[in-house]
Amino acid sequence: MKERRIPKETIDRLPLYLRCLNKLIDRGEENISSENFSSRLNLNSAQVRKDLSYFGDFGTRGVGYKTEKLASEIRDILNLDKSWSMALVGVGNIGSALLTYRGFDQRVFEVEMAFDRNPDLIGEELNGVEIEDVNNLVDRVSEKNIRIGIVAVPAQAAQEISEKLVEGGVTGILNFAPTLLDIPDDVQLAQVDITKELEQLVYYLQK
Ligand code: NAI
Repeated sequence: MKERRIPKETIDRLPLYLRCLNKLIDRGEENISSENFSSRLNLNSAQVRKDLSYFGDFGTRGVGYKTEKLASEIRDILNLDKSWSMALVGVGNIGSALLTYRGFDQRVFEVEMAFDRNPDLIGEELNGVEIEDVNNLVDRVSEKNIRIGIVAVPAQAAQEISEKLVEGGVTGILNFAPTLLDIPDDVQLAQVDITKELEQLVYYLQK
């Protein structure tokens, strides 16, 4: 199933379907129609059917999709059926908020390690995670077999930190620093850019 080529736009929407399904499952709903999905997610139902058709035909005419089955299939496709340990670098405003954030699905995403260069922070514990010296980052990340790194240091340090993360074996980086990172092609990069979102938002406010 995973070998099928699924368009990026569909992959990008899968977390939305999953969040919606999780809510329904919590409420004990066993089925959802594509019309219901489309009104909840503001997509047209043909689009929903097309998205979901990429990974098996779970829909039944008149009944829709089985919520549990679809959620499990989406988790499988998104690689959420295993747990991902993450290393956070930079435990300032953003970093400490992430370390204490309860919104991650703890079974899937866990900030297992945290690093900083500030001697006042090194050795401190936040949410059960000890803040370690960034000088040990490469060895420690490699020792713990961490695959995801979160970069929450000032922009000028972000490139160096991402290189260290890659050297330690990280293959996915979530970057909060407002800078373009130059990383190897086989490393996945996700950029969080609140300024960009705000700039796009105000463009639409003028209209
Ligand atoms: P902060 O100054 O509160 O925290 C930065 C932390 O990184 C500090 O604890 C500092 O000691 C540590 N640090 C600095 N250089 C380091 C290095 N070489 N190695 C290890 N640790 C190092 O900054 P804040 O507010 O948490 O912002 C963090 C990053 O996120 C910045 O790049 C900032 O521009 C960015 N940011 C991004 C936003 C977004 O939309 N993605 C929104 C706000 C900030």
